[in-house]
Amino acid sequence: MCGIFGYIGRRPEAVKLVVDGLKLLDYRGYDSAGYVALSEGKFISVKKVGKVAELEASLSDLLTPSNIAIAHTRWATHGKPTEINAHPHFDDQSSLTVVHNGIIENHDAIREMLQKKGIIFSSETDSEVIPQLIGYYYKGDLLKAVQKAVGKLKGAFAIVLMHKNHPDELICVARECPLAIGIGKEEMFIASDAHAFLTHTKKVIYLHSSEIAVIKRETIEAFDGNAVPITKESEDLDIDVEKISKGHFPHYMLKEIYEQPQSVSNALLSRYSDEYGTAILDELGMTDEELYKIQRIIILGCGTSFHAGLLGGYMLEERARIPVQVEISSEFRYKNPIIQENTLAIAISQSGETADTIAAMRELREKGAKIIGICNVQGSTLAREANASLFLRAGPEIGVASTKAFTSQLILLALITLRFARMRTMSQKEGKDFINALTCLPTQIRSILDHADLIEKIANKYASYENFFFLGRRFMYPTAMEGALKLKEIAYVNANAYPAGEMKHGPIALVDDKCIIVAFCSDSVTYPKILNDLMELKARNGKIIAIAPEGSRELFSIADDIIIIPRTIDELTPLLAALPAQHFAYCVAKKRGTEIDKPRNLAKSVTVG
Ligand code: G6P
Repeated sequence: MCGIFGYIGRRPEAVKLVVDGLKLLDYRGYDSAGYVALSEGKFISVKKVGKVAELEASLSDLLTPSNIAIAHTRWATHGKPTEINAHPHFDDQSSLTVVHNGIIENHDAIREMLQKKGIIFSSETDSEVIPQLIGYYYKGDLLKAVQKAVGKLKGAFAIVLMHKNHPDELICVARECPLAIGIGKEEMFIASDAHAFLTHTKKVIYLHSSEIAVIKRETIEAFDGNAVPITKESEDLDIDVEKISKGHFPHYMLKEIYEQPQSVSNALLSRYSDEYGTAILDELGMTDEELYKIQRIIILGCGTSFHAGLLGGYMLEERARIPVQVEISSEFRYKNPIIQENTLAIAISQSGETADTIAAMRELREKGAKIIGICNVQGSTLAREANASLFLRAGPEIGVASTKAFTSQLILLALITLRFARMRTMSQKEGKDFINALTCLPTQIRSILDHADLIEKIANKYASYENFFFLGRRFMYPTAMEGALKLKEIAYVNANAYPAGEMKHGPIALVDDKCIIVAFCSDSVTYPKILNDLMELKARNGKIIAIAPEGSRELFSIADDIIIIPRTIDELTPLLAALPAQHFAYCVAKKRGTEIDKPRNLAKSVTVG
């Protein structure tokens, strides 16, 4: 949600460096983009409505030479996506400039106070109060002015700023929004996601908890939220550069769909013991005794991560017989939840930065729950604040619609289930069978992808329809929710997910020959039931696409089209069924010509609550 990139260093091509860096961040928001560079004491700034590509197209070959610049790609919160509202923003003297990610909650009060002092605002954004307030406090000592202003700001934010009178430094602040600083040779990079500067350096430090850093080309001076100097240790990033390119794929989403045999293997690697038929989750940092004491589990997430959480809930209750409550973070945080002793919370977030999930996690922590994070980004807020984290090891996920992160989240939830179940209800033999099913998944995923042509053919047949129902029962219901979300996100098609048994309580009124039903039929317990549900919909002329396991002969006389997937245990069939759902949505979107990797109105990482 908004991407920031900054550069200070020995190279004179700061503008190109920040715009190139921004290109790797535009999945965070793409309503407008802009940069500002300081050259011979003057700010040179360009802003464009739309994606970073628009900004890039406006750059001439003769770029202003500069060795200090900041850039921003915006996901609009306050104020329309116009050039005036695009970042960077300036104080009314045009002496300092700021890029901002997050929301300033008390912007109205600050704006009013500054306007009374005669300060003139140019945009409708909350962000503009930041340079204006710092400018108002500035009396020659920039750091002091920033510290004073930050003390007045309420909300979550990451900020990078530059001042004409201080041409050899950038000042950064991070409160509840991510900011990584890459340390190069006589140069520093600043980005919302560290992978954006990976081609330049792998040495990184992360700012958080209202920390402020003064960054010069060779030094970083850091302070905590109380202005006390602190030492920040750098770490080495463990990401391959090639993992952030599209390779030969036309879209990141397709590449990420095809990476799943590998990402699922990575998630499993060294996390189970064949011999004992159990999961090895040393990263949890919990003893067997501590795990055994857990009486209740709360799972939190948003979007796709919430759907993975729902499936985790089904798995854990079914196999480990522990009561599980699965909640959408944005609702849970306002529910004043009741937390009993021996409650474990599992917070799921691909990015590790989703504001609602972080807030819900903090609420739980304050109430005494122990938190396990399931996330993909090391150094993220979730990873830092949880008691322990299990990393997906899926590599960067760039496509806004989550694919490989979902299947890796399911693997980790299955491993947690196995660990808990083996301590309670599951025999060693059952544990070994569970592991066997897990280890077959990469090959099974490959076999689904080998039949991607058929999925594309079916998607093309139905791509022009406007109304879809995604149905499932038991393990297939959250899977249907995830399938419907994919179609909504990237193809902009109205897709409603329902438990199939619920259709007759109202939604069936919408079914006619223009209605497409995508039925997830891989749950063995409810298979006969969903056949009945589908018969009722067929009788109302609904067109049925069934996603079903090998040998589902009964469906041949019911469904208009069938996508066959390999058989596995019920707990893992959502993972296999997700593959055709992802690819179906991808192909429908391709046929409809929508923006696949950066769908309208969305952002990959939602750092505002
Ligand atoms: C955004 C993304 C979704 C994602 C959700 C949660 O809405 O567009 O794809 O599922 O955030 O993100 P997280 O990083 O917490 O998993």
